[in-house]
Amino acid sequence: MQPILVAYATTEGHTRKVAEFIAERLRIRGHRAELVDVATPAAQVASGTYQAAFVGGSVHQHKHQDALLHFAKSNQAWLAAMPVAVFSVSLAAAQDDMDSRIEARRLLDEFVVETGLRPWVVRNVAGALKYTQYDYFKRLVMRLIAKQRGGSTDTSQDHEYTDWDDLEAFVDEFLAEAHLPGGRTR
Ligand SMILES: Cc1cc2nc3c(=O)[nH]c(=O)nc-3n(C[C@H](O)[C@H](O)[C@H](O)COP(=O)(O)O)c2cc1C
Repeated sequence: MQPILVAYATTEGHTRKVAEFIAERLRIRGHRAELVDVATPAAQVASGTYQAAFVGGSVHQHKHQDALLHFAKSNQAWLAAMPVAVFSVSLAAAQDDMDSRIEARRLLDEFVVETGLRPWVVRNVAGALKYTQYDYFKRLVMRLIAKQRGGSTDTSQDHEYTDWDDLEAFVDEFLAEAHLPGGRTR
């Protein structure tokens, strides 16, 4: 059985954790999963030898990583020939208000349009505040944003908002849509 690609971009590391979770769920469902950080040389050797692919990154200053855009665009031809799922990690996705939800979805949709990907399933994934990893200035800015948007302002520790059950449901929905073993809808 050909592997399923999980290609991701991360800036502070949380999307790596999300991608690892997706890969682990795929393995539990009986698939081979190949994790690729698109900012590493491993991304250059990725080709159409997969049966399906997850592609995702995180939002910083209202856009996804350039490396993710580059990866998706330059591999668009073979990605178009297989079932693809797209995920976008952001703090907007962690907020309950409608404006933030619309913003998170808009950024994901823009990514899809710009790259020409045709995902079968998409997901906005609530991200994390990694205060302990930010430099002084970034910590100040993120604390201010968190204060305005209802996130935690306790900078002594990191805060994760990801709904892991929903992420598992995303994997299962995609497998079901793509008619791959292990898929189920809830
Ligand atoms: C400098 C900076 C800018 C950010 N800008 C946005 C933003 O414009 N919109 C948003 O929803 N989240 C924003 N975030 C939140 C990130 O998307 C969130 O922290 C995510 O978990 C980062 O994932 P990563 O660790 O994989 O890079 C920002 C975070 C940082 C540190």
